[in-house]
Amino acid sequence: MATTSNPRKVDEVRMEVDRLNAEARTANQLMEGITVLLNKEMLKYNWVGFYLLEPGADPPMLVLGHYQGAMTPHTRIPLNMGICGAAASSGKTVVVDDVKKDVRYLACSLETKSEIVVPIFVRGEVRGELDIDSHFLAAFADEDRELIEYCAQLVGKRLERV
Ligand code: SME
Repeated sequence: MATTSNPRKVDEVRMEVDRLNAEARTANQLMEGITVLLNKEMLKYNWVGFYLLEPGADPPMLVLGHYQGAMTPHTRIPLNMGICGAAASSGKTVVVDDVKKDVRYLACSLETKSEIVVPIFVRGEVRGELDIDSHFLAAFADEDRELIEYCAQLVGKRLERV
């Protein structure tokens, strides 16, 4: 069972995300700002990054974009691999409370204990995802999921304009 984040903190960060969205001139700036904000303000969000589908790639490929946290060996992930591939191919948020117990998990860092991956939709189709790793077991409760899905929705709306 995930431990609940401080609801006031989640509300504050959501307001900061709205501010970033109002100030960002491009989807890229918004994504960069979100990685910095979530990694800095949410203590259990130890790695925060975006993967976007490579345009025209066959088979489809997720490519690492802006991120905060340790360098990862997984800069390109096919859709049949990892938690990242599972979220992108199903179009559903995937929350893993204990990565050791999930055979799909691709290890990034030995410290990672739980993970959430939220797809980003553009005109109804998955275009990428927001991936967050935590050094704590079951770090992502319902309000975390809502906050992260909100960020992914804002980015999707921004990408619609491109
Ligand atoms: N753990 C992910 C790979 C990406 S790293 O977390 C940054 C996965 O299983 O797809």
